[in-house]
Amino acid sequence: MIHCEKGLFTLHTKHTTYQMKADPHGVLLHTYYGPRVENCDLSYRIRYVDRGFSPVPEEAGEDRTFSLDVLPQEYSAAGMGDFRLPSLDLELPDGSRSADLRFKSFRVEPGKYALEGLPAFRGEEDETLVVVLEDAAAKVEVELYYGVLEDCDIITRAVRLHNRGGQAVKIRQAASLCLDFQRGDLDLITFDGRHVQERSPSRGPLLPGVRSADSVRGGSSHQHNPFVILCDHDAGEDHGLCYGAMLLYSGNFQAAAERSQFESIRLTLGIHPWHFCWTLAPGECFTTPEAALCCSKQGFSVLSHRLHRAIRERLLRDPWTGQSRPILINNWEATMFDFDAERLVNIAESAASLGMELFVMDDGWFGRRNSDLAGLGDWTVNEEKLPGGLDALVPRIQALGMKFGLWIEPEMVNEDSELYRAHPDWVLQAPGRMVRSRQQLALDFSRKEVRDHIYSALKAVLSSAEISYVKWDVNRSLAAVWSAALSPDRQGEVYHRYVLGLYDMLERMRRDFPHMLIEGCCGGGGRFDAGMLYYTPQIWCSDNTDAMDRLRIQYGTSFCYPVCTMGAHVSAVPNAQTGRSVSMETRGVAAMHGTFGYEMDPAQVTPEEREVILRQTAFFKEHQALLHQGDYYRLSDPFQNNPDTAWEQVSPDRREALVSVVSGPIQGGPPCRNLRLKGLDPELRYQVNGQGSYPGSALMEAGWPLPLPWGDYQSWQFYLTAL
Ligand code: DGJ
Repeated sequence: MIHCEKGLFTLHTKHTTYQMKADPHGVLLHTYYGPRVENCDLSYRIRYVDRGFSPVPEEAGEDRTFSLDVLPQEYSAAGMGDFRLPSLDLELPDGSRSADLRFKSFRVEPGKYALEGLPAFRGEEDETLVVVLEDAAAKVEVELYYGVLEDCDIITRAVRLHNRGGQAVKIRQAASLCLDFQRGDLDLITFDGRHVQERSPSRGPLLPGVRSADSVRGGSSHQHNPFVILCDHDAGEDHGLCYGAMLLYSGNFQAAAERSQFESIRLTLGIHPWHFCWTLAPGECFTTPEAALCCSKQGFSVLSHRLHRAIRERLLRDPWTGQSRPILINNWEATMFDFDAERLVNIAESAASLGMELFVMDDGWFGRRNSDLAGLGDWTVNEEKLPGGLDALVPRIQALGMKFGLWIEPEMVNEDSELYRAHPDWVLQAPGRMVRSRQQLALDFSRKEVRDHIYSALKAVLSSAEISYVKWDVNRSLAAVWSAALSPDRQGEVYHRYVLGLYDMLERMRRDFPHMLIEGCCGGGGRFDAGMLYYTPQIWCSDNTDAMDRLRIQYGTSFCYPVCTMGAHVSAVPNAQTGRSVSMETRGVAAMHGTFGYEMDPAQVTPEEREVILRQTAFFKEHQALLHQGDYYRLSDPFQNNPDTAWEQVSPDRREALVSVVSGPIQGGPPCRNLRLKGLDPELRYQVNGQGSYPGSALMEAGWPLPLPWGDYQSWQFYLTAL
């Protein structure tokens, strides 16, 4: 719901309120974001104080209490005396660096806005507020877009910059989101890591200065995630005020939080300003990616429920909003590049007999791709490995009752490829420099002719057989980036144009193959972001398939992203990344914290393990709706010294729940523990694994007794049904 009254703009969702106000000088002040409050002008909270060394704009005259450096800004601009984090940094034709934004007008539009060529939440029933600011001297207009997803408790933001003048201006930075808090006592939680160890939560109080999580790697990265939380110092899973902010973007980003000299906090989120400079010619418009905000005063569980629901229902697109996902078998860890049609069919046969539904042929099926040294860019089937091509292979897989899927890495090229030999100038590489990673180079996806070429080759392959799934991988960060298609003064556009090119390719694929499931991947979870989820409803969570490590990675991922988006597989032991051996039962429980599948040769398992797998695939099929659509609760934190990692999914009507528990390394004389469950109806009675009758209140307050572990890494699942 949007209220606009005399320069006061109030946005209400079901449980939150967001407000801004144009002050008498036309400066748009941020007055509030938090739990829902009654309609009122919240600017009464803003104190005007004379602060030394804080500049005063001309029109304030002798009123030294009016300074942009102190007041809470809705969209901060560099150069006019606000020395905190800028959202907008403009370079004007005369070389000066300032933007002076004043309120001009507003409009309310039905439906939530969409962004051409960029990912965005949907909301046909919702509303959009556009507040127009202008820098009259620079003749630049800034449209602040707000999408109010009332039911989901989400406020989205995006910014459009228009050059209404006669000369080009340069955008050095344009954040998607600026959020000022009139308090300095917040913790920041970022989700950090590295390849095979992504999205570990890292929490700390904001201290004076700036703390940021960012990427200049070209993609959103394994190292940091474009999602952060700000919260009360004592906020936890079930209590405390917390704010989540995500960027729907898959390239260089910066999430920065600053605690200022006067103990206010500013969060900015948007495209990273490093190597960004966009020339906005007269009449042109630049659109930032979308950011989304969510707030909960009941801690992280409720925050995650709201974010998960919004992602599932308003970001993922049909047919994948609620549709079940196939249990897949992927050959990568079983074969690497060393396979032929017989070996694949052999894997598929045993997989089919164990209840798996989709066979995915990973890297190595095309060009001369027999190792990672060659072949990327040549998207034609290697008939030495696969005689008769996909035409011959796919029907054999289908005859087993399985669907067929394919791995691709469209953004990349090996020097040892037909494509590179024909078009060495198509790579994204500065003249005279060469930075390889995994022996590959990135293609210049900012160029349409490059995209067209790759897309038509891929389309031919994808049309040549019935392909139900594609794994879109990318396996390097970008370095020494330069585009032959851009003039030297436009090179600052190249990273963003690359991301726009990537989105264009994904959108074409969605359009031409609307029923194909696309799974994102970036050496595992190096591009796990809400931008990708708009195109790829699931993303391979990590190249680390060790069940115990996965519990931590999936735990961190779960703060923002729902279980149905996390690619997770059972793999062989000892694990290829860690050397650890964990039972088939526990590997299955860990992988059910995701889309669920296998990444091994099922023909190699023992008869006992076959029985376990048969039970797992049947169990997953029976409970997928609960696992993927249920409200998700983190019952323990695997990063703390907890003996168990536990989580729970509860159906929306609270009549069904599934509790999963994995124990850690065994210790002699293990204590007896009762696990307190969450989200049940205290008034209902539940059976646990078909037995007994326990009040929901007892299970939540007094807990459920866990079996004593015997050996390392045991696991249990408890299925609860209301009587
Ligand atoms: C990285 C992915 O994360 C793996 O699953 C696998 O597809 C390899 N690339 C193939 O090169």
